[in-house]
Amino acid sequence: MTPTNERMQLLDLEPAASDFLAEALAGLSSQPRTLPSKFFYDERGSDLFQEICRLPEYYITRAETEILQLHVAELADSVGANAELVGFGTGAGVKTRMLLECLADPIAYVPIDISKQRLLDSAAALQLAMPHLEILPVCADYLQEIRLPQPSRKPAHVAVYFPGSTIGNLEPPVARDFLRRVNRLCGPSGGLIIGVDLQKPREIIELAYNDAAGVTAEFNRNVLVRANRELGADFVISQWRHRAIYNDQDGRIEMHLISESDQTVRLGGQQFHFTAGDKIITEYSYKHTVEGFTALAASAGFRLARTWTDPQQLFAVFHFTVPD
Ligand code: AVI
Repeated sequence: MTPTNERMQLLDLEPAASDFLAEALAGLSSQPRTLPSKFFYDERGSDLFQEICRLPEYYITRAETEILQLHVAELADSVGANAELVGFGTGAGVKTRMLLECLADPIAYVPIDISKQRLLDSAAALQLAMPHLEILPVCADYLQEIRLPQPSRKPAHVAVYFPGSTIGNLEPPVARDFLRRVNRLCGPSGGLIIGVDLQKPREIIELAYNDAAGVTAEFNRNVLVRANRELGADFVISQWRHRAIYNDQDGRIEMHLISESDQTVRLGGQQFHFTAGDKIITEYSYKHTVEGFTALAASAGFRLARTWTDPQQLFAVFHFTVPD
């Protein structure tokens, strides 16, 4: 445990840098070529993502916030009293704070994030706003198995909060395995509150991931900047064009980096050849239906308690419980 301030203790389980090298080599050697989207989030990538969330085209954050503004009291009621709230990648924490302020006597808040500075900054800001709440930040990859710190009071149940439709960045079988782990983490009578982006006309989705200001393009290329800096790769950034394409058949938007020329990239002692027009897939973002996602969560052992959508039906917030 690393001390953060007088009350907060950080549990530091930050993944090793070698994970990035191994996964980048594996991804660039596969067909189609890929780079894992979790590596978007260095400091610059996290800032760019915050900027994306404020873009006029990126409806996701606004729709989810609107759902909370309209229904947070019902959601808090559905979760129940004396919960230990575990936040997965809860970022700037605006939605989490809305929820925590409405929950009846929450026992503790355990924010988990891979980006240590963002985690510490948002936990410190929350502690100032809610001085009596026990906050136990954990720096970790929440997609892996996690051991939770023990709050000083015993909670009635554990409720995991996973906003932002980050579940959409996992392919369905991976999402199912992840939800099974979350189910075990919650334990009997625990719950999951999860934000999920819904299927809608492709034009709306493609605009959201090809914004006019080019912020998503910079966010996408930043993974190459990071590979150059952290792994000693030699991507020529200007030779890679961003494009996001909706794949109707699989119900997902795909983020691509397209090679502008014939080129060779060196990384980790290996060489990767690209001809003009070749792509690296950096992210999938699946869009679900309410029924489809309910079935996916049920296959991981969750029972639907309630669902809320925004007035335009762009986004859904689900509350699932774990049967006793
Ligand atoms: C974090 N995740 C839910 C975002 C998404 O919409 O899939 C990441 C993102 N990629 C491009 N824009 C935003």
